[in-house]
Amino acid sequence: MSRQYYIAGNWKMNKVKGEAVELAKALVEQLKDGKNKYMIAPSFTNLDAVAQVVKGSNILLGAQNMSTEESGAHTGEVSVLMLKDLGVQTVILGHSERRHIYKEDDAMINKKVKLALAHGLEVVLCIGELLEEREAGKAEQVCEEQTRKGLAGVSAADMAKVIIAYEPVWAIGTGKTATPEDAQAIHQFTRGVLADMYGKDVAEQTIIQYGGSMKAENAAALLAQPDVDGGLIGGASLKAETFIPICKTY
Ligand code: 13P
Repeated sequence: MSRQYYIAGNWKMNKVKGEAVELAKALVEQLKDGKNKYMIAPSFTNLDAVAQVVKGSNILLGAQNMSTEESGAHTGEVSVLMLKDLGVQTVILGHSERRHIYKEDDAMINKKVKLALAHGLEVVLCIGELLEEREAGKAEQVCEEQTRKGLAGVSAADMAKVIIAYEPVWAIGTGKTATPEDAQAIHQFTRGVLADMYGKDVAEQTIIQYGGSMKAENAAALLAQPDVDGGLIGGASLKAETFIPICKTY
């Protein structure tokens, strides 16, 4: 497989600055011999401090969201220009918590995806179905729609900077992980959607991460699946002891 494993930590709304810096320092030290691609996404308020720690290391700095707009009257929003100014290299967009708690729709997420790419940021586009959608047999349909709408207008060339993260909503923070077979089925299906949109080469090169209660105990079996190219980890990314083993699974 030519695709590189990409392990990312989404710290969500956790850690004050001192804690974030401490964890980032531990990760820089313990991952310096790591063979994979790594990223951490602290809260906006900790990006600047964590940027100083990861600078020059093999850990990319990610943001968890960004505005659809570059600047202006958007109280409470954070722009792509502000992220880039701090040294942010990648941005998580369309996370299920943004979709379902904060009601971001595919059109809004697509606008963010295109803006981030236009400014040269890497994008981790999250997709994934709710439990009721899975139970209604609609998991593939939901993932296809989120992929197509999220990437509308994104060129094949820009796909070099796009990662898809499949995060079944019922597996996030619940301790219920998708089985390796269930994850593989959606990853393979999504790669097929990408092949239809962009051709086989782009689809084969695109990293598709799995997210949802991933931990050291289940990472090996998930990452062994042919279309599972990495992980987007929430809870287990909050401590070096639980994140490092996932990073070093393979
Ligand atoms: P958990 O690993 O806590 O289930 O979170 C997954 C996730 O949402 C990462 O973005």
